[in-house]
Amino acid sequence: MMKVRALVSAMLVLGCATAVMAAPKDPNMLPNLFPFPNPSGVLRTFSTTGKLDMTGPFFQDLGTNGRTCVTCHQPGDAWSISAVNVEKRFRESHGRDPLFRTNDGSNCNHDINTSTEGGRRDAYSLLRTRGLLRIAIDVPAGAEFEVVRVNNPYRCNETTTLSMYRRPLPSTNLRFLSAVMWDSRESSTQTGTTPIAFPHDLSSDLTHQALDATMGHAQAATPPTAQQLQQIVAFEMALSTAQAIDAGAGTLSRGGATGGPESLSTQEFFLGINDPLGFNPFGTPFTPVVFTLFTDRWAHTPDTARQARRRASILRGQTLFNSKPINIVGVGGLNDAAGLPLIPGTCGTCHDAPNVGHHSIVKALPNGNIVGPLNIGVSDVKGILDTRYLPVITLRNKSTGQELSTTDPGRALITGKWADIGKFKGSILRGLAARAPYFHNGSAKTLKDTIEFYNTRFTMGLTATEKEDLAAFLSVL
Ligand code: HEC
Ligand code: HEC
Repeated sequence: MMKVRALVSAMLVLGCATAVMAAPKDPNMLPNLFPFPNPSGVLRTFSTTGKLDMTGPFFQDLGTNGRTCVTCHQPGDAWSISAVNVEKRFRESHGRDPLFRTNDGSNCNHDINTSTEGGRRDAYSLLRTRGLLRIAIDVPAGAEFEVVRVNNPYRCNETTTLSMYRRPLPSTNLRFLSAVMWDSRESSTQTGTTPIAFPHDLSSDLTHQALDATMGHAQAATPPTAQQLQQIVAFEMALSTAQAIDAGAGTLSRGGATGGPESLSTQEFFLGINDPLGFNPFGTPFTPVVFTLFTDRWAHTPDTARQARRRASILRGQTLFNSKPINIVGVGGLNDAAGLPLIPGTCGTCHDAPNVGHHSIVKALPNGNIVGPLNIGVSDVKGILDTRYLPVITLRNKSTGQELSTTDPGRALITGKWADIGKFKGSILRGLAARAPYFHNGSAKTLKDTIEFYNTRFTMGLTATEKEDLAAFLSVL
């Protein structure tokens, strides 16, 4: 352990994040729990298959533009991509890495010049600086709204197919998912996929997702075979990823702590396992104590005074996550769906899955509303977050004439419903330190920024220490 820690801290000092990639003896096999350094420690992935076979179809070029799944789902970036590492790939390849393709990697797919490095630097600016891919979705037929205009700083102003900019979701820890994609479009009757229901079966949605990703992101001419799709899904479903070592607090899975990917791989989960609206299938009541990874014993048995301070801060952060009161108001998909203008809650009201932290169930209410995807204001045009780098999409309600502007209609482009504008799923809160920036549109550059957002959005009144403690806690997940 000392050895790994020494190696890692040396690499942190050198700022050398990819050097460890060269270390595995067999280039085709990534050993289980292989250490990937990130700005606050070390991330590891555990596979129930014992190792990660890097020759399978997840790693194969199944399309026409040189991309594979791993192009955008990198093991060291918690199987997403961090903006810092995208910029590094741009620099090293002069913008020629297959990540940089104009179908969805550039800000727009027309009126751009990618023949020079400077041209590519401009064309891929959102990908380089925020790790964003362009997601183009057609306005569904029969939508309750029409598009009045699109004001896209990068010229993709079409109003029938809208261009949005979103972060790759991690292709790990998938067995916990209650919906696939930010707008749940791979778990939706509208797209011919299946809402995930109890008992939990994700395989058809993930198979459909892998097919769409190959045809879309990789521009395949022919679809992958059923066997390749099945292998991709089996590979992804075996993975558990989490921060394993914190540079300050030390190892996160010993001495009374159950951080890290191995514990995560044994974490119990079923749809609705912990639900504040009472959808636990066995009637078990909701608990706001969502995270139980760090204990007093762990905090009080450090090796050094520095470790003691950091562990205490992490433990306080966990307690804040589990108990700090939040007056939840104006959240589309929650307050309106439940018919409660004010819900006294905590972080765990929405991030309720034990030790995972996404919403554990997506459920249709008797009144027809769906609980799950939420509008907390991340895609607002003049909201708390600076979204000036994003397009402004103005929509008009066909029956009321009301107009509304957003940077991303989210779930509404799948259901066609006015009420679903700006709704996104809450993502899994593991491996966060490895995959900045945050939120679907990368509008929070750091974990501290996500906390500042909540502090303002829900007038939480967090002190400077509380913000630091919460950020410390999120960074070791
Ligand atoms: C060009 C980049 C890119 C490539 C290549 C790519 N993805 Fe993705 N992936 C994304 C983005 C962006 C999202 C989120 C999009 C959204 O929700 O609208 C995503 C989402 C996902 C999700 C959803 C996870 C969740 O929490 O809902 C899975 C699973 C996934 N990708 C697997 C794959 C697989 C398998 C492949 C290869 C067949 C692949 N991806 C190729 C960019 C990419
Ligand atoms: C009212 C519901 C709600 C509450 C309360 C809430 N969240 Fe969230 N959270 C969400 C949703 C929804 C998203 C995804 C939003 C998006 O990207 O559009 C999210 C995203 C996040 C992310 C970014 C994850 C990523 O992959 O980019 C972090 C970090 C986070 N929340 C932390 C917290 C913390 C800490 C608290 C308590 C202070 C909290 N949340 C309270 C609903 C909530």
